[in-house]
Amino acid sequence: MMKTSRHPFLDGKPKRMLIDGKWLEAASGKTFETHNPATGEVLARVAEGDSEDIDRAVAAARRAFTGPWSKFKPFERQALLLKLAELVERHFDELAMLDTLDMGAPISRTRGSRLRALGMLRYYAGQAVSMHGETIENSLPGEYMSFTLKEPVGVVGAIIPWNGPLTATIWKIGPALATGCTVVLKPAEEAPLTPLRLAELCQEAGVPPGVVNVVPGYGETAGAALAAHRDVDKVAFTGSHLTGQKIIQASAGNLKRVSLELGGKSPDVVFADADLDAAVPGAGMAVFANSGQICSAGTRLFVERKIYDEFAGRVAAYGKSLRVGDGADPETQVGPLVSAEQLDRVTGYLAIGRQEGARPLSGGERLTEGALAKGYFVPPTVFADVRDDMRIAQEEIFGPVISAIPFDDIEEVITRANATSFGLGSGLWTRDVTKAHKLARAIRAGSVWINCYQAMDPAVPFGGYKMSGYGRESGKQHVEEYLNVKSVWIRTA
Ligand code: NAI
Ligand code: MG
Repeated sequence: MMKTSRHPFLDGKPKRMLIDGKWLEAASGKTFETHNPATGEVLARVAEGDSEDIDRAVAAARRAFTGPWSKFKPFERQALLLKLAELVERHFDELAMLDTLDMGAPISRTRGSRLRALGMLRYYAGQAVSMHGETIENSLPGEYMSFTLKEPVGVVGAIIPWNGPLTATIWKIGPALATGCTVVLKPAEEAPLTPLRLAELCQEAGVPPGVVNVVPGYGETAGAALAAHRDVDKVAFTGSHLTGQKIIQASAGNLKRVSLELGGKSPDVVFADADLDAAVPGAGMAVFANSGQICSAGTRLFVERKIYDEFAGRVAAYGKSLRVGDGADPETQVGPLVSAEQLDRVTGYLAIGRQEGARPLSGGERLTEGALAKGYFVPPTVFADVRDDMRIAQEEIFGPVISAIPFDDIEEVITRANATSFGLGSGLWTRDVTKAHKLARAIRAGSVWINCYQAMDPAVPFGGYKMSGYGRESGKQHVEEYLNVKSVWIRTA
């Protein structure tokens, strides 16, 4: 196990923010602590950005956008992204461990994101040279030619959560570098370290000053200042729907563009004809992975009534078999929750579930034995006897908590699966291709996973319906979120 103190980035010095290619203290001089949620240990003090720092970072991003960066050719932006990918690959174990230390995810999981992290950077590198406008025939009398240009939208404010700092950062700065935008990234206060380390690698890759700026700080201060800033052209936000609503309000001042990837209460539907040996771990890890701290977790587990007791029992047994512990231990399968706040929130829902009459088949209580006492550990929990109107069936818990709900037939489960204000992910398990196609169309969500869950790829779009947000990340749709379309007319005679 790598000892915290031996992580090369954790050298005991306060971490500064990156603005205009320089590592600076906050204008206020303030710092905040970031902790290891498995042990409570302080990992580092970090510069606490606020509106003055955001102003400086946005000004730097604007100068870079209109300055030398605007002269970069697609090939040059591609080369930068490929160089960054090479550096991320070289330092991957270090970055994965930093994610694990700062937010708790098992090292097996953070190391497992290698293909995704590198794949994203290389995909955006490809996008950098694949963007093009169109030549469009028009019907005006006379001779006119019309065509479109795709232009970078400008200065992008990126605000990310803590549940996957490395990949969340790449998901925001990748499309910005591909398109020629500049970025001010505000990491989550719970997990700012990997974004800062990645910013060092951006510098090493040759990203010019001001193109990528990273300003750590709190949401209500630094985040709000970025969302409201008059000289920010677009905000790309990932986080809770409540904060998403504030982002939209803050955006009104200059009507900046907004893309939102918010949370959910995603349905996962298991039919009796499914391959249950695959569906048990599949439905389990659809929620237990990352301790349930995944926006598209399949937390409403609808199970066909004739297999309900058996299936819910098997998922609970699977949950009990998972090893809960410090994420830095390679054997750990379920790490801690990220913070005391999230622990309170999740244990609050465990109490609510019991009060509402749901029955825990596994877990249900915080773990405090031995070494776990210092961290924020909640074991995989399966609630049975859940009704659709219970709060644990309606609200995002963001912990390793499954609400198992019986259903009788396909029409009924479609209606009930869609009876939520969210629409991010969804799953279904069946061997019947007719049912699979029917549900794939009927479920109102941005992703449908059939006989699998949470599959993601840089080339395949991801995003929400309804209150899970709008805009798409990954896929060719993603760079469009960072581009403006300009129409050009030329009178040719
Ligand atoms: P949050 O949405 O408050 O935080 C996400 C990011 O937004 C952080 O960087 C935060 O500093 C920033 N932020 C907070 N308030 C802001 C504001 N007024 N203006 C601009 N930026 C602001 O989420 P939080 O508090 O970390 O978690 C609360 C709940 O949100 C979780 O229990 C979970 O249900 C949900 N959530 C969903 C995520 C997802 O991936 N969809 C990720 C994180 C949280
Ligand atoms: Mg918050």
